[in-house]
Amino acid sequence: MQAVVFYGDGDSRVTSWPKPQVQSGTALLRVEAAALNRRDLWIVMGRYPGVKPPVVLGSDAVGVVEAVANDANREQTSWCGQRVVVNPSLGWGADQHRQGPDFEILGSPRQGTFAQWVVVPLEALHPAPKHLDLAQCAALPLAGLTAYRALFTRACVQPEERVLITGIGGGVAQMALSFARALGCRIAVTSADAAKRQAALQAGADWAGDYTDPHWSAALQQEWGGVDVIIDGSAGPGLAQALEAADYGARVVIYGGTAGTIDGIPPRVLFWKQLTMLGTTMGSDADFAAMLRFVHKHQLPIVVDQTYPLDQWPQALQRLRSSAQTGKVVLRMSDE
Ligand SMILES: NC(=O)c1ccc[n+]([C@@H]2O[C@H](COP(=O)([O-])OP(=O)(O)OC[C@H]3O[C@@H](n4cnc5c(N)ncnc54)[C@H](OP(=O)(O)O)[C@@H]3O)[C@@H](O)[C@H]2O)c1
Repeated sequence: MQAVVFYGDGDSRVTSWPKPQVQSGTALLRVEAAALNRRDLWIVMGRYPGVKPPVVLGSDAVGVVEAVANDANREQTSWCGQRVVVNPSLGWGADQHRQGPDFEILGSPRQGTFAQWVVVPLEALHPAPKHLDLAQCAALPLAGLTAYRALFTRACVQPEERVLITGIGGGVAQMALSFARALGCRIAVTSADAAKRQAALQAGADWAGDYTDPHWSAALQQEWGGVDVIIDGSAGPGLAQALEAADYGARVVIYGGTAGTIDGIPPRVLFWKQLTMLGTTMGSDADFAAMLRFVHKHQLPIVVDQTYPLDQWPQALQRLRSSAQTGKVVLRMSDE
């Protein structure tokens, strides 16, 4: 089969790779589409821990189940022939508060989804949302799960709260905007790109600022009197500025560090404003199921930036690397 394989030292390419075989408790999926995540880029750039090349990249997938190997005492679910999405958050465990020791993310160390076929644990299968097309289904799992847990499980966001989402061009940020809007929140966003700010306003954001402008958070603070929740995937020195927009008692959820380590936050900002800082990673099986129910209930669209055929992997990766995208970049495995 054809797959995107990472060989180490920045070398990732579309190549022939052995078709995987179902093992006990797994399903063989014919992948129809798979979305890129910044994680794939971090792996190629050598900035992701624990990677053992060669490995098939990719965490997100939609496809059709072709074969299932059930354990003797496992409930027999007739997945064969069904179109499914895959929860890339594997082995989370029973504790909703945090992942357990068996936690892993699909697509390193386990072979990932940028391939014509992938084998995944049966627990990871969920029916694909019927109101979404293939590219939207592929785009949903990892980013949707991360945004859902950040907003609902960690920040416990409530309708009408003021929510700030930074770097709105990002895949997780776009999902967070969609979810918070469906809940009825008041939403502020930031982006370095004027067109992305404009698009976010059209998509339901109430305020948009440029995080490269040193006065953006003061302007938001002045206009809104602060925000109740911050959802941030960039961290870096800019987080200190975002915290200026936090109201007293705000919850700050950090899900990523695109802009690097967090510097320059005066402790006074944390203790005087009584801020709650919350880290979040992916989500539990329960988070994933709840996310799918939420997307179904509100019939939410998913923002796809561009779809590329598998052999245009370098172009798709470059799209993500350049941060030119709004929403998710998707690979199609065939032209059907
Ligand atoms: N914890 C988890 O489970 C989890 C899950 C998914 C992702 N992540 C991490 O979260 C981050 C975002 O992931 P993603 O897949 O959503 O990324 P993405 O789609 O690649 O988006 C990245 C976006 O970050 C924004 N950005 C860059 N520098 C920024 C800065 N200084 N301040 C504010 N925003 C900035 C840009 O937004 P504009 O173009 O609008 O300026 C860019 O479009 C990555 O670091 C990723 O590794 C973590």
